[in-house]
Amino acid sequence: MIDKFPFLLHGGDYNPDQWRHIPGTLDQDFRLFPLAGINSVSVGIFSWAAIEPEEGRYDFGWLDEVMDRCAAAGMAVVLATPSGAKPNWMAQKYPEIRRQNPHGWCTEPVQELQCGRHNHCLTSPIYRAKVAEMDRRLAERYGKHPALALWHISNEFNGECQCPHCMQAFRDWLRAKYKTLDAMNHAWWTGFWSHAFSDWSQIVTIDSTIEGLRLDWLRFESEATASFLKNEADALKSVAPEVPVTTNFMGFFEGLDYNRLAEHVDITCWDCYPAYHDRPDQEVSAAGISLAHDLCRSFKMRPFLLMESSPGPTNWMKTNRLLRPGLHRLKSLQAVAHGSDSVQYFQIRKGRGGAEKFHGAVIDHVGDESPRMFREVAQVGRDLKALQGVCGSKTPAEVAIVHDWENRWAIRNSQGPSEVAKDVIGTGLVPNYLPYWKRGVAVDVVSPANAFNSADYKVVIAPLCYLVQDGFAEKAEAFVRDGGTFVGTFLSGVVDKNMLVYPGGFPGPFRKLFGIWAEETDYLYPDERNEAAFAADNALGLSGKCELKDICEVVHLKGAEALGVYGRDFYAGSPTATLNRFGKGQAIYIAAHGGRDWYDALHGAIISRLGLRRALDGDLPNGVTAALRVADDGTAYTFVENFANEPREVDLGAAPRTDLLSGAALSGKIQLSPYGVLALRG
Ligand code: GLA
Repeated sequence: MIDKFPFLLHGGDYNPDQWRHIPGTLDQDFRLFPLAGINSVSVGIFSWAAIEPEEGRYDFGWLDEVMDRCAAAGMAVVLATPSGAKPNWMAQKYPEIRRQNPHGWCTEPVQELQCGRHNHCLTSPIYRAKVAEMDRRLAERYGKHPALALWHISNEFNGECQCPHCMQAFRDWLRAKYKTLDAMNHAWWTGFWSHAFSDWSQIVTIDSTIEGLRLDWLRFESEATASFLKNEADALKSVAPEVPVTTNFMGFFEGLDYNRLAEHVDITCWDCYPAYHDRPDQEVSAAGISLAHDLCRSFKMRPFLLMESSPGPTNWMKTNRLLRPGLHRLKSLQAVAHGSDSVQYFQIRKGRGGAEKFHGAVIDHVGDESPRMFREVAQVGRDLKALQGVCGSKTPAEVAIVHDWENRWAIRNSQGPSEVAKDVIGTGLVPNYLPYWKRGVAVDVVSPANAFNSADYKVVIAPLCYLVQDGFAEKAEAFVRDGGTFVGTFLSGVVDKNMLVYPGGFPGPFRKLFGIWAEETDYLYPDERNEAAFAADNALGLSGKCELKDICEVVHLKGAEALGVYGRDFYAGSPTATLNRFGKGQAIYIAAHGGRDWYDALHGAIISRLGLRRALDGDLPNGVTAALRVADDGTAYTFVENFANEPREVDLGAAPRTDLLSGAALSGKIQLSPYGVLALRG
């Protein structure tokens, strides 16, 4: 929640700088805003050339007009700094600020001419000075403006620059980190293939066979981006310290460790473009999007903002289908259900030209309120008004799932072991999250550093924890000793933070906790299957068989008990999953990858045995999930969402509760319409 505007925001990217010369457009937009329930706009993104058309000549007139009109209309403005794309005059006058990209493996980076966006160097002192100057001017002019709600720093940071400035900064960073070349050479294992560095100046980033170098480069890039972001935040706050700042993330985008960036913003937000189009994997896609919302909320353990979404089809997916009626409302309220205090769009108005003229917008080319999507947006506007009490409410989670960018980089940049294993989100996080999503159990998505911080967590899941951060295994042991349940999977405890393999047997530092030795791993061809047969009288009370695929680890019991065993191949009879009683708690190891029933059986048993809190009692039908938010005064809001294009019967329990969206008092078994959503209070 933004203190100055304590309501759910509904609006989005607004680009008046691009059409201010078309008479009547602004008047038309401000006529349409109340009809769509739009109460906020994000202005100024990519507007550098409009604000400073030539060096030192500023034109704030158009922005003044928009800010003043928003203030008069009682609207909130999310005001962006324009640093996401530099103007032509700047690229021409200061060539050093242009980004240099790798041209290919083992080739020198090449300098970009001016094109696209995100086209600048993040370490360039000149660009940083220009950006800080621009930001101070914006803060001086608008810092106290009644419409200003929030600074939106730059836009979707991404991309790498390998110019001489960046290389020198990287070498300085390495020298500060390792102190000596010997220490660095050891960490990177450079004796292999004669890669040892004898001088810091030899270090370049074009050799991906030095895996530790690549990992450090990605760490450095995240820190450089975080420091660029901080440079902007400091400039804004030096003039307007009371105005909060944010920057828009892209969910699980692999290129940047958002934990580093989140340290420098007051509110986290992200841009979310789900493609729900009745595909066979709709439920998995929906769970994946909920997981990304949970990630954004968990950075600060407080409500986040949905900064962009599309009111209609995008123009960049392989297939840009129309949103079926009702889907826009469902995906918008899905974000609110998982902790968003806003539904914002890219974009408010479609342009007549440029790269995104065919991307969905609140106001289509026809220019008025007649399109179907405008009505769907207006419906969300009414919904958000009815949900005002939700603003600022929290998500109470007893389960945490661990997500670590460095772990993803480590396995992505390792030669092998298999493509499936490299997809930590698809192979690790989503399958282990889905059983909780299907039962309406709230999950926080935490970094290894924060995994055990909450006293409320009863379960911590660390899927595919290939790289183990210092101290993480010890913290996991303490958590389990105190009564917690820790769940790990295949390919855990393989390398340390330098990507050096743990000697002494896998899962490395987790061996004692899991009470196993993972001897070797079988990677199956896509059409091959194995099976897990649950062991008689196993500790989770499971029975029957489940199909296994892709990754089968051969594990030996060293204190743990088997929950199930392989049914086929030379390792038939060895454990597929194990449970180790440790202190007052238990550590569960899932040794093989499987289909949905495999994960559902294991986690379903954990949920019911530990009696974890669910948003709704009882089982939910396929395609339906439920999520809970609780306000500071204890009021509970339960969202029930149907991602199936068919009606679903849901049992809401005996006590009647008000559905804030329809006003109806509901209880017992109800029919939830296709893509239907409820928001129950009480
Ligand atoms: C991103 C960007 C926007 C726009 C949209 C299109 O989220 O931030 O500027 O390009 O994608 O979907």
